[in-house]
Amino acid sequence: MKKHTIAVVGIGYVGLSMAILLAQKNKVYAVDVIQERVDQINSGISPIRDDEIEAYLKTGSSDLIATTDSSAAYAEADYVVIAVPTNYDSVKNYFDTSIVETVVADVIASNPRATIVIKSTVPVGFTKNLCSRFYNPRIIFSPEFLREGRALYDNLYPTRIILGFDGEIPELREAAEIFANLLSEGAIKQPVDVLFMGTAEAEAVKLFANTYLALRVSFFNELDTYAEMRGLDTQQIIQGVCLDPRIGNYYNNPSFGYGGYCLPKDTKQLLANYRDVPENLIRAVIDANSTRKDFIANQILQKAGYYTHCNSENIVVGIYKLAMKTDSDNFRHSSIQGVMRRLQQKNVKIIIYEPKLECGSCFMGYEVINDFDVFTEQSTVIVANRADSKLDTVSAKVYTRDLFGRD
Ligand SMILES: NC(=O)c1ccc[n+]([C@@H]2O[C@H](COP(=O)([O-])OP(=O)(O)OC[C@H]3O[C@@H](n4cnc5c(N)ncnc54)[C@H](O)[C@@H]3O)[C@@H](O)[C@H]2O)c1
Repeated sequence: MKKHTIAVVGIGYVGLSMAILLAQKNKVYAVDVIQERVDQINSGISPIRDDEIEAYLKTGSSDLIATTDSSAAYAEADYVVIAVPTNYDSVKNYFDTSIVETVVADVIASNPRATIVIKSTVPVGFTKNLCSRFYNPRIIFSPEFLREGRALYDNLYPTRIILGFDGEIPELREAAEIFANLLSEGAIKQPVDVLFMGTAEAEAVKLFANTYLALRVSFFNELDTYAEMRGLDTQQIIQGVCLDPRIGNYYNNPSFGYGGYCLPKDTKQLLANYRDVPENLIRAVIDANSTRKDFIANQILQKAGYYTHCNSENIVVGIYKLAMKTDSDNFRHSSIQGVMRRLQQKNVKIIIYEPKLECGSCFMGYEVINDFDVFTEQSTVIVANRADSKLDTVSAKVYTRDLFGRD
């Protein structure tokens, strides 16, 4: 297959894994606004924790060049892949897509013949709207399904490749087919399921897939809330429920709620897209996550003796790690932060053990104590979203709902 020149814009989880996947057989410019990220990648260092990305960058490739010079990269590119943030704007109750829009405008100004592939998650209807606004139909939407920490792995072994485009434009179909082949030829898993559909359908796939995952997390969390309140053994119930192959024994470990960068914002965006469409479930998923954090905060206070101590000022809640997952280095919007906000309202003292942060620094206004013995000694209760054998010696103080030792 012909070697293409591709610019990937935004070198975070999505962009970096895309850039590496595509650079196996193409020339790739990885564009970012952060000089430090660009320098790290050009020196073979991964800015994010991910075994496959780290291994690939160590081997080095002359076909992957990180740069902040976006115009030069766009001018040469056949394809420009956009993987910049689309954060949820809680005032507008909608994604903030302004960075994607700016990048699209810049690409069209530098190189109107380039095909643009949006990998950022966007609201349903966004791509179609963008094509009419810019009088440019060469925009494809391709949802991304990777997990943080396994970003490159998930693109080497993709569950599916989806390309959404305006099917009435023959050149765009050809461009979409070529791009699907570029993704698929970079994958190790073969064959890969490739689906072509309309842009709005492809955008909906991404939001519904993440909302289903959030629903599943919320379901097992709510099962756990019930069992804990009624004094039942959650583990026995989940095992019994999940042996039904239609349900499956995976993605069912109770937690403090779904969190991370994507599930909280994608569920809210899907609810915003429903607008005048009847629904109960989508809103319930979002509400259930909030109720779960209320419940967890309450259980922590109970274990700490908050409701029985006359002097609650002596209570110290120790937060053991901030990330959602066992080996993650990333705690963007992790559920424990929602629990901490609830504890904050009760004025209990909070301390944090998080080796990824500097000892003595502050997070959400709370002191980080990375001396394990000092941390455990000072804590009345130790709160861990995911269990850790390191806590075995202080297990009487630990509050966790991790029942299966997996994410
Ligand atoms: N993280 C995930 O697991 C995941 C999975 C699927 C989809 N997504 C979606 O993909 C998009 C990117 O997510 P991410 O997790 O990779 O984000 P990220 O925050 O890890 O990375 C985004 C990168 O974009 C860069 N950037 C910001 N503005 C820029 C600009 N104007 N020009 C060039 N670079 C710019 C940032 O510096 C950063 O390096 C989001 O829309 C997200 O919802 C994320």
